[in-house]
Order: sequence, then C-alpha cells, then structure tokens
Amino acid sequence: MSGQTKEENYIQLISNIRGLLHGESDFIANLANTCSLIYYSLGHHWVGFYRVIKDELVLGPFHGPVACTRIEFGKGVCGKAWEQKGTIIVNDVHQFPGHIACSELSNSEIVIPIIVKEKVLAVLDLDSVEFYTFDEIDQLYLEDICRILAESYERKFVIS
Ligand code: SME
Repeated sequence: MSGQTKEENYIQLISNIRGLLHGESDFIANLANTCSLIYYSLGHHWVGFYRVIKDELVLGPFHGPVACTRIEFGKGVCGKAWEQKGTIIVNDVHQFPGHIACSELSNSEIVIPIIVKEKVLAVLDLDSVEFYTFDEIDQLYLEDICRILAESYERKFVIS
C-alpha cells in the first residue's frame, strides 16, 4: 500500500475506478476493469463478480485462481448476500454453514451485492488467505464501488 492508510488506498482506488468507468457504458467491460483495479490495489487472493442470470449466479470477470461457475440462490456466501440483498463479512469461512470452497487457500471473505432498483444484478466477492481480513472500512468502500457500478449500469439500461 506504499505507506498509505487503508482509507487513503481505497480513496485512490475509487478515484481510479471512477476515471476508468467514465464514459464507458458496457457493464462487463466495467466489471472487468474494476476487478483488475481492486485486485492490484488490495492484493487479495481472489477478486471477482458473479452476475445474476435467471435463477442463479454465474461467474463473471475475476482475477485469481479458477472458481466455481454457478451458485444457486441462497447458497454459499454469494448466494446468501444475493438473498439478503446485503453485504456479508465472513471472518472464518470454515465456520460459515454452506460456504462454497473454490480455493482451499481462502480463509475469510466479503461479498457485496450490486443493486439496481431493488434488484440484485451481481455480487462482488473478495477472498483472502488470512482470517479476519475484512472489516467495516472494507464494507464502506466496497459498497461505494458497487454503487458506482450500479450507476454505470443504469446509465445504459432502463430497468422496469
Ligand atoms: N466462497 C464463495 C464461492 C465463490 S468463491 O469464493 C470464488 C461462496 O461461498 O459463495
């Protein structure tokens, strides 16, 4: 993090994301570049998106090891965040009932939904090899990033 505080690092990251998304309305392209920026800024084991396609989550742009492709509604941390329409922080994934282990190296996780007009469009998932990695600061700024992505989606699509 080059001597910056966690907050300063996030503020820089969000500024970079806003800059990169400016003028681009393609949602997948925006997810892909956002994923790259988060991955290289925060340095976690896995960073990626799952998009809601019909009745399940389908793997979208990600950085890190190969991951499971589809997750059912309410299943795993991702499916639960979709169901609850809210962020879930898991300090120890081995204690989370129904956790889906895509990588045996992951020990903690945060999942944040991207919500447009009260519908979950996708979730952002970050996995760490350390336990107790994510806190309310991560939640605050990652939710901000998901709001920016929701706005970028709304610029192109009219949701009915
Ligand atoms: N652990 C997630 C599955 C996705 S991977 O971590 C990339 C879950 O329980 O939903």
